[in-house]
Amino acid sequence: MTIIKRIALAALLVAPTFSIKAQIIVAAESKQNALVLQVTPKKELNTLYFGAKLGNAGDYSNIAKQYRYISSTGEADQAYSTAGNINILEPAIAVTHADGNRSLALKYVDHKTKQVSDGVTLVSILLRDSVYNFDVTLNYQTYFNENVTEQWTIIKHREKREVVLNKYASANLYLQNNGYWLTHFNGEWAQEMHPEEEKLSHGIKTLDSKLGTRADLFQPPVFMVALNKPATEDEGQVLYGNLEWSGNFKIDFEVDPNNNLRLIAGINNHAADYTLKPNKEFVTPKFVYTLTDKGKGEASRNLHRWARKYKVVDGMGPRLTLLNNWEATYFDFNEPKLTELIKATKNLGVDLFLLDDGWFGNKYPRNGDKSGLGDWDVTKTKLPNGIAYLTKTAEETGVKFGIWIEPEMVNPKSELYEKHPDWVVKQPARPEYYMRNQLVLDLTNPKVQDFVFNIVDDLFTKNPKLAYIKWDCNSVIFNANSATIAHQGNFYTDYVFGLYKVLDRVRAKYPKVPIMLCSGGGGRVDYGALKYFTEYWPSDNTDPLERVFIQWEYSYFYPSLTSSNHVTDWGKQPIKFRTDVAMMGKLGFDIVVSKLEANELAFAQGAIKLYNQFSEAIWHGDQYRLQDPWKNDVASVMYVEPNQSKAIMFNYHVSNRYRSASIRPIALKGLQADKMYAVKEINLMPGQRSSMPGGTYSGKFLMTIGINPVVSDGGRASVVVSIEEAK
Ligand code: GLA
Repeated sequence: MTIIKRIALAALLVAPTFSIKAQIIVAAESKQNALVLQVTPKKELNTLYFGAKLGNAGDYSNIAKQYRYISSTGEADQAYSTAGNINILEPAIAVTHADGNRSLALKYVDHKTKQVSDGVTLVSILLRDSVYNFDVTLNYQTYFNENVTEQWTIIKHREKREVVLNKYASANLYLQNNGYWLTHFNGEWAQEMHPEEEKLSHGIKTLDSKLGTRADLFQPPVFMVALNKPATEDEGQVLYGNLEWSGNFKIDFEVDPNNNLRLIAGINNHAADYTLKPNKEFVTPKFVYTLTDKGKGEASRNLHRWARKYKVVDGMGPRLTLLNNWEATYFDFNEPKLTELIKATKNLGVDLFLLDDGWFGNKYPRNGDKSGLGDWDVTKTKLPNGIAYLTKTAEETGVKFGIWIEPEMVNPKSELYEKHPDWVVKQPARPEYYMRNQLVLDLTNPKVQDFVFNIVDDLFTKNPKLAYIKWDCNSVIFNANSATIAHQGNFYTDYVFGLYKVLDRVRAKYPKVPIMLCSGGGGRVDYGALKYFTEYWPSDNTDPLERVFIQWEYSYFYPSLTSSNHVTDWGKQPIKFRTDVAMMGKLGFDIVVSKLEANELAFAQGAIKLYNQFSEAIWHGDQYRLQDPWKNDVASVMYVEPNQSKAIMFNYHVSNRYRSASIRPIALKGLQADKMYAVKEINLMPGQRSSMPGGTYSGKFLMTIGINPVVSDGGRASVVVSIEEAK
């Protein structure tokens, strides 16, 4: 017998045999999935199973005996793994007790199940350290119909003095599959959401951010893991996850010696040892995930349905189409110019005019990005009659009015900086370092929280007709340090809690007003933030060809009504292509309307009317990604109304290759097989005739054979198709 075999046999002999006496807890059970935990006779809480729901609840007690792990540690499956005790893999939690001891061994105390609302169940499991007066409550909130779970942790102690949390993850999953394929995303300014897929090997792969604010600039906290084999749009088991946190995050994927995946997601503990007072609860952000065995498409639709119903502000409601002046004027505007743009808003036929950056600052007017940020008083020389005049003009013109702010930031060249240097995040003894000539305000400071809240509140109080806000955040945090907090280790975490406190106050007073989440593009897109926002700005890159790809990637995780897509002058494509792409989400424009040719204006006006007719499918319907732009000459996406009677399909030519075109039909999805549908090309340029074979087809035909949108280069690079139940 070889040494290895002898060790293996020994390990088998000492393998725990507690499964008969173990207490089983189904922590999270949705329509399709179950996360099952067990309490061992030693009161440890372990993960027994995570996957498709089994037929009988009794089946779960039969699982453990089917696995014959050979391991030097039996603790890889802790439901919330601790440091300093018998777990010797990556921990979910690590602490330094008041007496300096660094061990933690959590034992099950009890658990309770609460029906939060129809279809929403919360299981809370209380764990307690066997030596220290230290509690951890694991929370599992399941959205039954959407197959979505949110997991978070509450940490509390009653030790004599402060305890330091060295790591404090939200969730710790344990998956027992034959291989894991991780898809994650990288980016930079104007290059958001570049996907990368890799097979996870042994060791730890970490996705993280240390940027503080604008935390997703290089990497967002979303990912997917395909189990057993890579997943496709319609096939394969796949887990989607997102840490609901708008700051530094850390998501570890550790493939252990038994080829199991330990997934630990939470706030990044980098430079963030958190000092916690006795009796004070530390509530981690939520980690949301969905698991499906029907591929990436269904995983997306699970998250979309959940986000619309439970997370995003007014997710079941409408959205406002708009005209933005950023790329039309940049900082160079005045009252007459804006009055013209407000009129252009009406002429175009959108709902709202959005005034972007450059309207504030007097001692240091905001005529560029070097000054004025922080001084939120209207620039008198530019706008002598204030914002009130503009909202009145908008009202008289028959459109709504919205405004840009970037309330968390400050230019050193500002009155705010002169008055409150201690409100600024910086290292007092070191040179300042800027991103876009600005610094971040210290939101851990309650006075700064009041200041930021008041910016929003004053705008609404003084301008009750204000209908929309674009909330920007253009800088990361350099030289992290607060002038006022006692423990600098709390800084990064308390910054985000401070931000959420402000946003909670904003939403308590203005529950539904649309607010766009922007961060120099998509630097802050996560479900922690989207709880407060109606929509996000995916990227400053509005080149429509780029946007086909960028919006495609975001659509894996976020519903289209949250994606603000503006028609701009970026890119070489004609107005039709640009508008078609922007229609796949929340439509807006950022162009000089007066410079449009007559037929372009007529097209845009018609497109907005059409968009309004199909908005139910685009905003609240099911999205199907039909043809991947990375793999095909033609990209294709469709949206189907919930009652399956009306759908819209968007197709784009995304290749430069000779004769690249849609030579085959594209099979549709999400229709009813036995219904008849009238199919026709819509959103044509004035005078353009369709060469697409429209007609009436059965749902079965459309989903089996499909239709050819006849996409090629030139005039047919972008084709929109309506599919409506034939009456
Ligand atoms: C950021 C945003 C842009 C615009 C500018 C204004 O870059 O992403 O959309 O609002 O700020 O300065």
